[in-house]
Amino acid sequence: TRVYRVGLLVDAAELRGCVDMNLLAEVRKLFAPVLAGFVPDPAQVPDYLDMIKPAANADHGDYQANFAMRLAKVQGKKPPELAKAVVAALPPNDVFESVTVAGPGFINLKLKADWLAAQVRAMAADARLGVAPAESPRKYVIDYSGPNVAKPLHVGHLRSTIIGDALVRLLRFLGHEVIGDNHLGDWGTQFGILLYGYKNHRDEAAFHADPVRELARLYILVRGLFKKEDDEDDEATADDPVKEACRLETAKLHAGDPENVALWKQFMPACLEMLRPIYDRIGVKIDHALGESFYNPMLPGVVEDMLAKGIAVESHGAVVIPNAKGVIPKTEEEQQKEEPPALIRKRDGAYTYTTTDLATIKYRTETWCPNTMLYVVDTRQALHFKTIFAQARRWGYEATEFQHVMFGSILGEDRKPFQTRKGGVAELGDLIDMAVQLALKKYEESYADRKAHGHDVPELTDDVKRDIAEAVGIGAVKYADLSGNRTSDYIFSYDKMLATEGNTGTYMQYAYARCRAIFRKGQIDETRFRTTPPAIVVTHPAERALCLQLLKFEETLQSAATEYLPHYVTGYLWDLAKTFSGLFENCPVLTAETPELRDSRLLLVDLTGRVIHKALDLLGIRTVERM
Ligand code: ARG
Repeated sequence: TRVYRVGLLVDAAELRGCVDMNLLAEVRKLFAPVLAGFVPDPAQVPDYLDMIKPAANADHGDYQANFAMRLAKVQGKKPPELAKAVVAALPPNDVFESVTVAGPGFINLKLKADWLAAQVRAMAADARLGVAPAESPRKYVIDYSGPNVAKPLHVGHLRSTIIGDALVRLLRFLGHEVIGDNHLGDWGTQFGILLYGYKNHRDEAAFHADPVRELARLYILVRGLFKKEDDEDDEATADDPVKEACRLETAKLHAGDPENVALWKQFMPACLEMLRPIYDRIGVKIDHALGESFYNPMLPGVVEDMLAKGIAVESHGAVVIPNAKGVIPKTEEEQQKEEPPALIRKRDGAYTYTTTDLATIKYRTETWCPNTMLYVVDTRQALHFKTIFAQARRWGYEATEFQHVMFGSILGEDRKPFQTRKGGVAELGDLIDMAVQLALKKYEESYADRKAHGHDVPELTDDVKRDIAEAVGIGAVKYADLSGNRTSDYIFSYDKMLATEGNTGTYMQYAYARCRAIFRKGQIDETRFRTTPPAIVVTHPAERALCLQLLKFEETLQSAATEYLPHYVTGYLWDLAKTFSGLFENCPVLTAETPELRDSRLLLVDLTGRVIHKALDLLGIRTVERM
């Protein structure tokens, strides 16, 4: 075995900031001046640099450049020859172990183990784990969660809440300013349902004793009186007298009817009280909760302004914004064909979801002046957002970048929208209870199993066990939600999400606990591995692979943040956990052959634990010290 030994002990402060932890950026930096000599126009260099990517097959190297084929075509040369010429022009450096040309002109790049080791050591000395804060920080407003408050939180709000929270944490860690805003549905038709229920079916004593519970009961009761249970079309009330009565209650509320407004004010605290315990339990804190009702007083002004600027027009007593083609479809046939125009004031004077969202854009811009506004809302609202973004730009909000960060649905194992209890929508509280319960059961089984096999397992109190189950159960739900590409639907399965093998939150929490267990077992204080990290000795491919994987942390976070794709982070964690297992299986840590080797491996273990902990934290997932 070859042994690479890196540096002498240096001061941690000296290590920090002296290296760039972004491997890919570092590799591209070396190629940039070389490519400049090969392309006719230096402006094209970045395009070619983009063609340097992590190698798909680790046997070929760590990174691979495949620009030679394109460049050769431009220059009328053979790709392998051109690749060789580029390689020959690379300046001497201490980054690459080997640079080889293969097949039709691929350039395979293998990094030097001692260079990697030096970078990892610097990463260990950095409290930010080698992740530099953004050079030009941006200001984001993130609109997420947004439940309709008069009913219990259900599974539909889970994804927006979890993905939004992860993006807030990630962008903040990368040094951006982030303002989270919960656009509560606190003014919609669901209040008509509560008002109707309260007026006709309330249990006075129950309301006094526990308004939250009584309102939840009334909501479900009145929904049960509707003719079609799942009907989302608020307007279709013609042959449904209860629904029509609810609609009238909503209309009265919006028109300022004193009785309904007073009741709304009385209900609101109870409605918010229904949400609070769940947000607390899943560890989500949203900076603001300016719900739809907050914008109500601004709506007439929005419509007036849009009419005055000629963006909106009156049509049959209503006010509409023509669609992109400037068309207001009149006949049924036209309505089918054309994108709908946006209705911002109905014939009866009522304002719409669109009007409120336009008022929201104006308010947020004037109050916070963000560079970017993100809307973490399901794909079904894609047309709505596309439309309001276009309208906002015409209205003058061109400097702001608008993004609909959309996501697919949660499906049941039958591939239909996820439901529990014969057909009812799954309430979030129940779903979390179930995950935590199952986590506890699994934990107790594995605990008994380990004990039966003679493992030395500590006696844990019931409180500690419950805390572990809470972290594992909720972590499993969040991880499952974040680990697929958000734009796809996914199937909700307790079994899969709580599996102790595979790309699950449970497995990552387990890998973290394993790192911690080594330090407990050896009775080693980890502080010195962070303040004055020892040298890293690379003797085995597993050590080298782990160094490489650890160093990809920064580039992973950056791509996850640019594309708003948290599953890049879970994918990274999955690779990290596998690579860590490789070290574990191949290289003894506490019983390593020499003290230097033992220190070096302990550093790798500690750093792996820290990276898992940080990555999970950025996803809003808690870790526990032992499992
Ligand atoms: N309350 C809405 C719903 O449940 C989501 C709100 C999304 N945010 C927004 N600004 N429209 O469908």
